Parts: sequence; structure tokens; C-alpha cells
Amino acid sequence: MQPWSFLHIADMQPGSPRSFRFNQRAIDNWQTAYRQLQAIADVDLLLVGGDLTRDGSCHDFEFEVAKRELDALPYPYYAIPGNMDTGNKHTDKNGATGREDIRLNATAEQLDRFASFFGEFPWSFVHENVRFSGFYAAVAGSGLPHEARMWHWLERELPSLPRAAHHVMTMHYTLFMDTLDEPKWDIAKKDEYRDWYFSIDPPHRQRVFEALKKADVSIVLSGHIHCRRPPQTVEGIRFYRCAGIAMPQGVDRWADGDPTLGFYRFDVTDAGITDTFIPLTRESQSTAGYGPGGHPKPEERDYSLAWEKEEK
Ligand SMILES: [Fe+2]
Repeated sequence: MQPWSFLHIADMQPGSPRSFRFNQRAIDNWQTAYRQLQAIADVDLLLVGGDLTRDGSCHDFEFEVAKRELDALPYPYYAIPGNMDTGNKHTDKNGATGREDIRLNATAEQLDRFASFFGEFPWSFVHENVRFSGFYAAVAGSGLPHEARMWHWLERELPSLPRAAHHVMTMHYTLFMDTLDEPKWDIAKKDEYRDWYFSIDPPHRQRVFEALKKADVSIVLSGHIHCRRPPQTVEGIRFYRCAGIAMPQGVDRWADGDPTLGFYRFDVTDAGITDTFIPLTRESQSTAGYGPGGHPKPEERDYSLAWEKEEK
């Protein structure tokens, strides 16, 4: 087999100057990454691991720009949503940060809007000797039709698909922070909120893991944390926590966490799949922008701040 390569990006979330909030830094960093991606000619495909937008969950215009940019790359891409695109992992109680977490739960409408731009998910296909799959595990526990579809896909469809030499799974949330059997992080505890926010709760976590094993998944790529860690192998599956592109996050969570922004290139040879981290050639330090950070309430969205007004 001729060696070949693929790329993975996540957490670009550039935002838009048409939005109720905007950070120049995030859009600068995405544009730097985008120029680097445009200059790479020798890859077969790109995996996009969610958070393509900052507020796509409420703005079609952010999806439109993201799609236009990704469509113009010189290779095909395959995208899954992240929580900034479609809403968060579900909770039935608000957490310790003052956010109204229940109102941030992903909705069917948001999930379907993402699919209307970037295609149905979950998805799975084979390229050369690798099966690539992608899904949005954050719907676990939501009770949405998307959850039933996800379990059916994970447990009935995926294991019966033809095998390839490798199976690469794209997720947005990490399945776990440290260990597969770590307890459910408590959204109501200040020092556990972030771990709750980043990972998938038991028992869904173990159920997903069992499905990954049955489908012979060999590599899992996740984003969301925006802090890269050396890959961690659990029962033969290599878990990558990938770098962010917009800005770093969670930098103090692990001693071996690396906040450098960038993305992975994977090279496939007869010997296996090897990774190379490609840092952004420049990280913006811009402080320009406006509006609130985090997850503001809908009534706190002030579009009169926007640098670019929406055409009426
Ligand atoms: Fe995210």
C-alpha cells in the first residue's frame, strides 16, 4: 500500500462579527489554521471534530461561513457537531458555575440544523485501509430520537460493517478524563463542573466503550477540552485529546497537558498510523472584541453590539 495521510481539526469556533459577541483572537487563530490547511496538498481527507462555530446553535450564518470555508479546501472533509454548534450534553440540574445548564441542553432542532449543513451523523465509511466513523456522544441520556439512533448505530450497525485494518472514531466530548471507571463528575460541585462538562457520564461512557471495542475501533479522536494530551491507550484503543484552534482551555487539568493550538496529521503506512502535531504558525493575542464569554442566557444577547449588522 502507498502511504497516505489524513488530518483532524476541532474547536475552531471563530464566531462572527455579526453575532452578539465576538473575539478577534478566535477568528485570527482559525484563519491561521485555515491558511495552513489550504497549503497542505498531500492528504486524502480531513476529519472535523466539532465546534465549527461559536454560536451555530443559534446562528445559521456561522454555519454558512464554516461550510463555505471547509468546502473550499482541496480535500474532502467529514464533520461531527460540537456543543457550540448544537447545544450541550444534557443535564436535569443546573451546575455550580451560575450557568443555566438545563437551557443549554442540545435540542433536536439544533442537531438537525447541523445535519442540514454538514450531512447526517453518525457516519461511517472506509477509505483505503481505514474505517472512519463519527458521532455525537453528548446526546446520550437526552431521550431525543437522536439518542436512540446513536445507540442503534453504535450497537447494531457499526459492528456489522466490513472491517478495515484500522478504525478511527471522531467524537467531540472526551469519553473520560482520566480513567474509564472514574465516577460520574458532579455538575453541582465547583471543582468537578469542568470535568462534568468535558466528558461523557456513566453508564453511557461504558456503553459507548463496549460498542467501540465490538467495532474494533483502534483510535478515538476527541476535542472540546482544547488541551492536547499524549494519547492514552485503554484495552488497545488509543484515545487522543486534541488541541483547540480558537484558544486553549483546561491547561491546568493535567501535568502533561499541552495548550499549544494546532491540529493533527496522521500518516498511514503498512506499519500503522502515526501522528504529527502541527502547531499554528502564529497564536493571536488580540484582546479586541465585544460581548459575554461562556454560555450567556438568550436574553443577554445584545446584537446592537455587532460590528457587522445583519442585512434586513
Ligand atoms: Fe466543545
